[in-house]
Amino acid sequence: APLRTRNTFGVAATAPLLAEVTDASALPTLFERSDFAGRAPLVLGGGSNLLFAGDPEMPLLALTGQDVRMVRDDGDIAIVRADAGVPWHGFVMRMLDQGFAGLENLALIPGTVGAAPIQNIGAYGIEVRDFVHAVESFEPATGRMHRFDVGQCAFGYRDSVFKHEPDRYIVTAVEFALPRTPNLKLDYAGIGDELIAMGITAPAPRDVAQAVIAIRRRKLPDPAVLGNAGSFFKNPIVPVALAEALQAEHPAMPVFRGNGPETRKLSAAWFIDACGWKGHRDGDAGVAPSHALVLVNHGNASGHELLTLARRIADSVRTRFAVSIEPEPRIVGASW
Ligand code: EPU
Repeated sequence: APLRTRNTFGVAATAPLLAEVTDASALPTLFERSDFAGRAPLVLGGGSNLLFAGDPEMPLLALTGQDVRMVRDDGDIAIVRADAGVPWHGFVMRMLDQGFAGLENLALIPGTVGAAPIQNIGAYGIEVRDFVHAVESFEPATGRMHRFDVGQCAFGYRDSVFKHEPDRYIVTAVEFALPRTPNLKLDYAGIGDELIAMGITAPAPRDVAQAVIAIRRRKLPDPAVLGNAGSFFKNPIVPVALAEALQAEHPAMPVFRGNGPETRKLSAAWFIDACGWKGHRDGDAGVAPSHALVLVNHGNASGHELLTLARRIADSVRTRFAVSIEPEPRIVGASW
């Protein structure tokens, strides 16, 4: 199956086999089929967190179920269950329209509901972990369904149990716990200013979503226009001592909270920008002119060309700042 239109980088690749499954209850039967049995498939969601650096060798699986339903509603918090195949942004807007808050800062993130917990998508001070209630999954090796309560998901910055064992579980649905009473997070750079520019003084969750949409449209290239997979690198988490040494030398360098008192999160975009890569182009593989963290395909870049550019970028950051930056998207057909 051709994959060019199924990944937001828009790179050409071919899958040996692609199965589409609407109802997760069909998965046990699929994995009894000789071409799927005993093989870890690559689950294709929106194709927005993937780089095909070569043709995948494994079979591909797309979950196409679109069911969204209320599991429980106790007045303030509702448990809403959505199939893995539901497009993320549409789900966020639908929840806001129905009066549920929480996901407003995560508007316009590409991809599907099923992909959201895998890398614990996050933006503007919110991570999806804050609103996940449980994750339903299928384990091909045993043919069984597993339900993970939020506490069993091992969520971290762009991380979860599903990333630790990349091919073990197939996320089939996610249950969210969504409050009716908003608890808006407006402190992240830009949101407050955007609301002021919009003339809004007492924002509702939907206004915050509109502000986030406006900021994202300005900073992040639209994959439908310019192929990309959002942030190509994770922000590096480093020991406090390294963060302080770097900041002493570069006072303008941003430093964020890490994952505990011993660490800090630094800005991969800032390092890449400082190394002069913003707007750089090698043929059709490039760095977005609007954001140093976003690799872009200007037309006909191959996955291999994008990967080569990414490695050069990471090497230059390591040489200049002694910081390693790691890719955020999954790289298929090559290793980092
Ligand atoms: N910066 C630069 N040059 C640039 C862009 C940014 O120096 O070209 C510096 C600025 O100092 C800026 C700082 O980097 O203040 C942070 O930039 P930004 O607010 O755009 O956030 P980010 O850390 O680059 C992260 C997420 C994004 C998310 C934004 C907003 C990661 C890997 N990326 O980016 O998520 O939308 O914060 O919350 O954590 C994604 O994961 O695909 C993604 C787009």
